Amino acid sequence: MPFQPNFEKNKNRINYLRISITDRCNLRCIYCMPSEGINFMPHENILSYEEILYITQLAVTTGIRKVRLTGGEPLVRKDIIAFLQKLNKIEGLEEITLTTNGVLLKRFAADIKACGINRINVSMDSLKPDRFLQITKRDYFEKVWEGIREAERLGFDPIKINVVAIKGFNDDEILDFARLTIDKPYHIRFIEFMPVGENTTWSQQSFISTGDIYNKIKTLGDLTPVRSHSLDGPAERFVLEGGKGEIGFIGALSNHFCDKCNRMRLTAEGRLRGCLFSDKEIDIKTPLREGRSDSYLFKLFRLASENKPKSPELMDPEPKKCIRKMSSIGG
Ligand code: 5AD
Ligand code: SF4
Repeated sequence: MPFQPNFEKNKNRINYLRISITDRCNLRCIYCMPSEGINFMPHENILSYEEILYITQLAVTTGIRKVRLTGGEPLVRKDIIAFLQKLNKIEGLEEITLTTNGVLLKRFAADIKACGINRINVSMDSLKPDRFLQITKRDYFEKVWEGIREAERLGFDPIKINVVAIKGFNDDEILDFARLTIDKPYHIRFIEFMPVGENTTWSQQSFISTGDIYNKIKTLGDLTPVRSHSLDGPAERFVLEGGKGEIGFIGALSNHFCDKCNRMRLTAEGRLRGCLFSDKEIDIKTPLREGRSDSYLFKLFRLASENKPKSPELMDPEPKKCIRKMSSIGG
């Protein structure tokens, strides 16, 4: 890759790329996908691993230091481990992480670790098997727990557990999730429910703010803030009194963080997206397949960062909607 961009000129601090490697998933979470009749993208529309590696290499020259792989469910894509091995060889990439629903984690955890990946996020919205089934439409609660335990046994650090908090659905489990951090080194992260995709589940009534969640958890004990690192995402982090793990709050709607946002997204079909809530996307796949130069592709990255909204206007007056499915953008 002979093209050398001028780092001095690159003033934006976008250092974190989230890559959706597939829109497929082995769960059907009610807020994400219908349980039947989903139109997945044809395989030829999805970036090949070679294309993702090429774009990532280019992204590193624009200042990207951290990559998160998402989906859909990244572990359902064929030959994922061979891809991770190659990704891990990209120079200048300081951190690779993975967000998984955990269903296949037990099977893949050791291989993932051997690829140099030490940090993992598992999505899990309930600690009750019957409710897990209700949310995900699949009876895989035990599999996910086994996956988390295996990751713990192998020494993944941190193990983050993402909980989308939905009023009237799992808000009665907030304290149970918080208590988990007392005995376990897990980082429980409460994410505000967002009106994303064609989901019909979101409503003002189903929304709980991270402020309300914080206040609930404070009844268990003091919450001491944890300082974050420049590659960290937007979670506000705390340790609950006597806890081994951490509790994080992602105020995706109530505490929107445009000014702190350091991320860019690459969708499964090869579009750069500056913001989850802005449907402006830039197709990088077509120019790449047409053989356009690296400097041209680099400019597309620039353009995508300029597309990022500058101000938090999400809740004003109604939350903005993101029309595309979360499973194709990658959360
Ligand atoms: N609101 C908040 N979080 C969501 N996720 C998926 N859809 C939504 C939504 N509408 C979460 C998943 C996963 C992460 C990638 O995004 O549960 O933890
Ligand atoms: Fe799959 Fe994640 Fe969507 Fe659930 S939220 S269906 S785990 S992509």
